[in-house]
Amino acid sequence: MWKKVFWSLSDELCSYTDTEDLKNASSFGSLLPFVQSIVCCTGSGTLIQKIWRMRPLLALCFLLFSVSPTTQTCPDLDSACARLTCAPGKDGLPGVNGLKGEKGDKGAPGSPGVAGPPGPQGEQGPAGPRGEKGESGLPALVSLKSDTLSLSGRVDTIESRLDQIVKALTFLKGVTAAGNKIYVTKGDQANYKDGKAVCANTRGQLPSPQNAQENAAVQKIAAQYGVFPYLGINDIDVEGNFRYPDGKAISYLNWAGNEPNNDKGVEDCVEMYFDGNWNDKNCDEKRLLICEY
Ligand code: GLC
Ligand code: CA
Repeated sequence: MWKKVFWSLSDELCSYTDTEDLKNASSFGSLLPFVQSIVCCTGSGTLIQKIWRMRPLLALCFLLFSVSPTTQTCPDLDSACARLTCAPGKDGLPGVNGLKGEKGDKGAPGSPGVAGPPGPQGEQGPAGPRGEKGESGLPALVSLKSDTLSLSGRVDTIESRLDQIVKALTFLKGVTAAGNKIYVTKGDQANYKDGKAVCANTRGQLPSPQNAQENAAVQKIAAQYGVFPYLGINDIDVEGNFRYPDGKAISYLNWAGNEPNNDKGVEDCVEMYFDGNWNDKNCDEKRLLICEY
């Protein structure tokens, strides 16, 4: 409590900033400088030490106060107090926040964003102006017809010549023809696998007759060489399901009686008898090698 009273008093005294005010201040005037000296000086040491150091001044002021307790001024106080050096006070508390500043300038524009996805296709534009009338197509048509006739004639000539060549070939032993197919042998014999490869290497395949005429053409060669030939037909992949070399199901068949019987369970290839009938046979046997083209 005493501390509170003391600081209240010091606040009031220290508010006298002018020495003249201090000297003339009420009945308290003579006492004020000495109290102010005690309160305001913040030299080193405790309060008691400060008072002790100022005991000459205290004595002077006490004397003045006792002689003229209400109106007597302290003539030497100016010089006496002026010699008192007060250390800087403690820093006050931080002030309240200042007023809000004015709105700043508008910032610079940001960098462009990532491009968005392409938009939908626009509507079709209006039709362009009509072009100039073209030349008559009649001359071109006449020319085209002439060229077609010429080419057609040349194709006929080639076909005729080709037919003549095939007939010439069939004049030889080992060459027969049926429809647009030609069968050729050199008289060699081979098992199914080797024979298939030989024919494939010459853009042909083992005989795969799809009608009686083609079957007869193969039969004729077999008769010429006196050797049963292999056909391309086989059921290697699925027993009993005979197919052509290209995998297609057979559309024509000419099995001998009781064939195919898959004798001993090893007959996946097909040979042709001299009468043109077929028998399923072991693929490892060697037979007359005929190729179909
Ligand atoms: C007989 C059978 C025939 C079989 C052949 C085997 O000729 O009639 O089905 O393929 O023997 O060598
Ligand atoms: Ca058989």
